[in-house]
Amino acid sequence: MYETIQFIHSYWAYLVLIVLVVASVNSIIGYATNKEYGATNFRIALFTLIVSHLQLLIGLVLYFTTPYFKMWGEVGMGGVMKDSVLRLYNVEHPLVMILAIVLITMGYSKHKKKLTSKPKFKILAIFYTLALILMLSRIPWSSWL
Ligand code: HEM
Repeated sequence: MYETIQFIHSYWAYLVLIVLVVASVNSIIGYATNKEYGATNFRIALFTLIVSHLQLLIGLVLYFTTPYFKMWGEVGMGGVMKDSVLRLYNVEHPLVMILAIVLITMGYSKHKKKLTSKPKFKILAIFYTLALILMLSRIPWSSWL
């Protein structure tokens, strides 16, 4: 069970990062070049929202099945916070990823309320790019790649 969820979470992460990079770059270009916002832009923004929300669900299941979770009971809050690896998996990674997904959700819903192209691209560019930076900052690179 744990290995399967970890496998899915690990490979789904590639998809999350790829679509988020595409969505961020697409919205920055759209904003900078005054492009007309169309159906493809909407699909990219929506697809990013869906893919990242699925990763959130997989991540939540993984959180409670990973052996790292048991360490809360074994070494306690102080022990987890003192160990940089345990702190990353048990606290920093989940919290920062949830924050990133909150930003994606806010960006998506705010951009939908705007009526013209430029503000739509602007909102997406800000929220999606911030989410991307947050995600890149707390990926456990050494164990992943
Ligand atoms: C949506 C953004 C997320 C991305 C891109 C992401 C990405 C990753 C990556 C690349 C790994 C390393 C996998 C490996 O070593 O093979 C990982 C591990 C992990 N993630 Fe996430 N994650 C995300 C969200 C979350 C969330 C929301 C949670 C929990 C609430 C979570 C919990 C975990 C845990 C517990 C591990 C360590 C699993 C283990 O090795 O036992 N992740 N994540």
